[in-house]
Amino acid sequence: MAIDFKVNGRDVSVDADADTPLLWALREDLALTGTKFGCGIAACGACSVHVDGTLTRSCSVAISDIAGKSVTTIEGLKGADGAMHQVQQAWIDAQVPQCGYCQSGQIMAAVALIEATGSPSEAQIDEAMTNICRCGTYPRIRKAIMAATRQAATGQAATALQGEA
Ligand code: FES
Ligand code: FES
Repeated sequence: MAIDFKVNGRDVSVDADADTPLLWALREDLALTGTKFGCGIAACGACSVHVDGTLTRSCSVAISDIAGKSVTTIEGLKGADGAMHQVQQAWIDAQVPQCGYCQSGQIMAAVALIEATGSPSEAQIDEAMTNICRCGTYPRIRKAIMAATRQAATGQAATALQGEA
């Protein structure tokens, strides 16, 4: 069956069985291989994407449930001008990845957390970031999220000041 939805702002149509995991459609049909397969049972977070703005483990959601919805993958985080998302830049600045396999899922989870909380505390980060990293990059992930949050706050303050000028 054909399932129509949006990925990274683009209309797409995937011909697949209704119970095909979204992850398969992203990687095999749409060649969006930034989203990774880890466990296949919603336990590791490597396959994390956003569906209508909600953090979702794409290995465990059927493609038929995505019809008419809007999916954002790691490939869709860049701005229209090609600039990196502030979280991606913070990841680079903090040199977070080791092997890198889990990192697109970690970044998608971090973006969702910052969008939900604005400025998460360390406790909120520890509670929300349940994605698994076999390389143990957790301290650098926490550091990068805090840096991205500070950067966002600075940007908002600068914008506010410009507005007052
Ligand atoms: S591959 Fe989806 S949570 Fe592990
Ligand atoms: S960086 Fe290797 S699994 Fe996370």
